[in-house]
Amino acid sequence: MAAVGVARPSRSAVSLGAAVSPLTSGSVTGGCDNDGVGTPNAVTRTVAEVMSSPVVTALPDETVAEAAARMQEHAVGSVIVVDGDRPIGILTERDLVRLASAGPGGEGAKVAEWMTADPDCVEPGAGVQEAFARLSDHGYRHIPVVDGDRLVGLVSMRDLMRVASIQPVVHPGQIEAPPGLEGVIVAETEVGDVRGQEGFYHYRQYSAVELADKRTLEDVWFLLFEGHLPSAAEHAAFLAELREMRVVPESVRPLLSPIARTGGPLMDQLRSTVSLIGHAEGFRATLDASPEERRANALRIGAVVPTLIMALYRLGQGQAPIDPHPDLSYGGNYLWMLTGTEPDPDLARAVEQYQMTTIDHGFNASTFTARVVTSTGADVAAAVTAAIGALSGPLHGGAPSRALALLDAIGSVDNARPYLVDAIGRGEKIMGFGHRVYKTDDPRAVFLRQVAERIGAEKLPFAREVEKTVVEVLAELKPGRDLYANVEFYAGVVMDHTGLPRDLFAPTFASSRVIGWCANILEQAADNRIIRPSARYVGPPPPQPVPDPA
Ligand SMILES: CC(C)(COP(=O)(O)OP(=O)(O)OC[C@H]1O[C@@H](n2cnc3c(N)ncnc32)[C@H](O)[C@@H]1OP(=O)(O)O)[C@@H](O)C(=O)NCCC(=O)NCCS
Repeated sequence: MAAVGVARPSRSAVSLGAAVSPLTSGSVTGGCDNDGVGTPNAVTRTVAEVMSSPVVTALPDETVAEAAARMQEHAVGSVIVVDGDRPIGILTERDLVRLASAGPGGEGAKVAEWMTADPDCVEPGAGVQEAFARLSDHGYRHIPVVDGDRLVGLVSMRDLMRVASIQPVVHPGQIEAPPGLEGVIVAETEVGDVRGQEGFYHYRQYSAVELADKRTLEDVWFLLFEGHLPSAAEHAAFLAELREMRVVPESVRPLLSPIARTGGPLMDQLRSTVSLIGHAEGFRATLDASPEERRANALRIGAVVPTLIMALYRLGQGQAPIDPHPDLSYGGNYLWMLTGTEPDPDLARAVEQYQMTTIDHGFNASTFTARVVTSTGADVAAAVTAAIGALSGPLHGGAPSRALALLDAIGSVDNARPYLVDAIGRGEKIMGFGHRVYKTDDPRAVFLRQVAERIGAEKLPFAREVEKTVVEVLAELKPGRDLYANVEFYAGVVMDHTGLPRDLFAPTFASSRVIGWCANILEQAADNRIIRPSARYVGPPPPQPVPDPA
């Protein structure tokens, strides 16, 4: 009768993917560093320490069915075939599969006919490294442990994984991206691009600044969605299509007031309401929706976001929301929903031009976020909700109000230099300066400076002095970094003059960037592959034994 009685190590301690490479030599020769991480590694281990013993065995003249039943009973993947104490073969699950696929009539098959005879064995005193090499070289999952001629245990790949550090396989083609993914091209796009060295950016094939100078925001919106600038008839039809979509759905209206009463930052409130809109309007996963449905959802979100922003703002001030004005320009309607009075057309145009300059800007953090979420097949509202979260960060869309706060804190031209030297000395970032891509003047800052001049923004003269000093001080204290004013610096100056309160600066950025996000969402959904990069694990080498609960 074959010997049974199994003391197996816990199976749950190991969970590894299929792709593993040989153990690090450090992991089995004791106490050394792995990949320079400096974490103590697995100590020297012998096969005797990790093997299972006693072993589930079988006799050569038993039937395979009997041996298989024993394997199942003891939840093991192989039995060692013995003659007395001596291992003469190994029968594994693979052999059972071979037998089954050989067709009917295998019921009486004997173990001796299906086992692998004279299996490779390892000694109990051998290192786990050697056992691993034997297993992986031959593609085995189990190897008998013999002392002299006597079977004393069994080592499986699983046993080794429990105790050993393994190095992840480096897949061919795997590349190491720089921190912040700087300079890494992750997609192809026809929406637009930024040329940092030249201080130029474009929406499709047109200069964004020239579009902001000559066209309306809706024209640019149409351009990004349809691929060409609209004719007069297309322009009129597009405005008519958008008009309905600007209105907050009935089912969401009563929910705005409680959200506004939370008093949280407007960007947070906006994020929540966009999420509600997706639900209220029955947005379906982009994976399931047709291109027409995705376009309609994207238009709906883009159109309703400005209305939501102003409704939330007014409710937070204890005022009733104001419905969109059917006949005003995009910027005019934006200010109308804030005050309920028809704004000065110059100021309305200034706001609209700010919004036009910020519709899209390459693979910035929020646009990338929108594309990542879309790549999972999630709905348009989910992608925009996530993008709003990304934009709310101070390093991205949260900067314009902070740039204006900087002007306030500096207070006077004389105080600019000492203030800035002190702040940079403390390691602070000067808000409204520096850019990942632009290493020269940000064309949006240049354009908005002109807009500020045109409308006679009262903070402009002081802002220009401060800009000059910041650029000088940064060149002295951060030489070679090429730090200049970015869009946020003059955005604050322009928005302030048009009467927009600071709480609305970041949401106003979102009010137009949502159009760029949506153009990217549509492009991603039209030709999708899930965005799923990798990370280099640098923690303590796994697998460490899981401590028993206290
Ligand atoms: C925009 C921004 C996030 C780009 O970040 P980035 O490409 O990762 O650049 P880094 O933060 O690595 O900056 C490179 C160097 O310039 C310095 N630097 C960059 N922007 C700076 C700023 N506004 N004030 C002071 N130093 C700045 C960094 O300290 C760093 O110096 P180091 O080499 O001594 O470490 C960064 O310039 C910034 O934080 N600016 C202020 C916030 C802002 O205006 N955001 C709106 C962007 S449109």
